[in-house]
Amino acid sequence: MSALSVDNLSVTFQGGAKGFTAVRDVSFTVASGETFGLIGPSGCGKTTVLRAIAGLNIGWRGIMTVFGAPLHPDRKITGALRGNIQMVFQDPYSSLHPRHRISRILGEPLSLRGIVGVEEAVRVALDQVGLSSSIAGRYPHQLSGGQRQRVAIARALLLKPKLLLLDEPTSALDVSVQAEILNLLNDLKTAHNMTFVLVSHDPGVVAHMCDRAATMQAGRIESVLDRAALAAGGWTEQLATS
Ligand SMILES: Nc1ncnc2c1ncn2[C@@H]1O[C@H](COP(=O)(O)OP(=O)(O)OP(=O)(O)O)[C@@H](O)[C@H]1O
Ligand SMILES: [Mg+2]
Repeated sequence: MSALSVDNLSVTFQGGAKGFTAVRDVSFTVASGETFGLIGPSGCGKTTVLRAIAGLNIGWRGIMTVFGAPLHPDRKITGALRGNIQMVFQDPYSSLHPRHRISRILGEPLSLRGIVGVEEAVRVALDQVGLSSSIAGRYPHQLSGGQRQRVAIARALLLKPKLLLLDEPTSALDVSVQAEILNLLNDLKTAHNMTFVLVSHDPGVVAHMCDRAATMQAGRIESVLDRAALAAGGWTEQLATS
């Protein structure tokens, strides 16, 4: 069974006479344990694809399944599937509530699900991403960019997802911190048997992280590259306009 199957996904945003179709007939399959990349210039539809999978864009067309379970275009993801799919956003600052302490940002999704032992779970989650539990009392603006992204990753991992959707997880970070976060993600992926879909503009990140990657252009997939093709290069000029 594949971790993710996307079949003829199209996403149209309303507005204007006909709306705007940002993603058109996109199909790809991600095997369990794989890291699958989505690459292409700014505006080509990468985030829109991830948001549709995460249930944040409703009203898509096509067929999508996650570990064999169908996703529905007309409703938000609920139940067990909700915890199985998590997304880490590009900007670690705007994705964390500015007026909530880290303890609440991490604890709330657990309490909402009636999970007990929240404080201990938060401590373990921070530890997993290499953060001291002493930061639990701080607000996001009291953390560095790298620490904020670690918090965002910790939050995504708390619900023990099987599929993690990563939208430019390191692009807002300093180069030295980028490598740390990427290595952390790879370690956590192995430890928790996760599957990744990774959006990135950065050829180095894609070549380092991905088993395969699809190149997108104007809402469509142009080609799917395997590891050998990624290593060989030649695809990086497609990112030049990004
Ligand atoms: N909510 C929305 N309403 C209308 N149009 C949208 C909306 N979200 C995205 N778009 C448009 O859809 C297209 C694809 O956007 P998307 O954010 O998926 O691009 P992207 O490939 O992630 O780009 P980037 O690399 O800059 O993040 C863009 O033309 C964008 O303007
Ligand atoms: Mg994007």
